[in-house]
Amino acid sequence: MVNDRSDTATRMLRDEHQLILGVVDVLDETLSKPDSASDPDFDVVDRCISFFRLFADACHHGKEEDLLFPELIEHGMPGDEGPIAVMLSEHQQGRLSVRGMAEAIDGARSGDENAMSALRAHSDDYIHLIRAHIGKEDNILFNMADDMVLGEACRVLCDRYDVVCSRRFEGQTKDDLEIMAASLMAGQPGSS
Ligand SMILES: [Fe+2]
Repeated sequence: MVNDRSDTATRMLRDEHQLILGVVDVLDETLSKPDSASDPDFDVVDRCISFFRLFADACHHGKEEDLLFPELIEHGMPGDEGPIAVMLSEHQQGRLSVRGMAEAIDGARSGDENAMSALRAHSDDYIHLIRAHIGKEDNILFNMADDMVLGEACRVLCDRYDVVCSRRFEGQTKDDLEIMAASLMAGQPGSS
């Protein structure tokens, strides 16, 4: 059965994936300039880290872990093995990479070579992880979810997504974070 993906249990999450992938591309390009002798734009890297922490993790993974995955478990999908367990483990790996980036950036900015190496290593780990992770969700787990969560259950789930999206993430709304992503992708300077 093929669902209309415009109104499914994963539509909002799929849309958010596109934004996350866009910012991942910005980080990748910022850190892989051919002239490796020059420093990357640390302000851009810093804004990418904030976006990953607040949008990709708190807002997006929060909805998956607190709402979508429990709904799938209720529909009979195992939570401690299979796709959900793999996704949870990858979320945790991503958190560690973003934390590593956040811890390394100040040292890297001040010229510490070890911190710069750590920043690049954690960023590479995150870039590779999140691209593969989103591919698995979009092409496997979310297709299963779209066929499982239908009708009223789908509407209730989407309403719960809206509640999470109306929160503030360290003072920033989801709109603020989407504007941050758009500005990063457009190569515009940050507002602070
Ligand atoms: Fe996701």
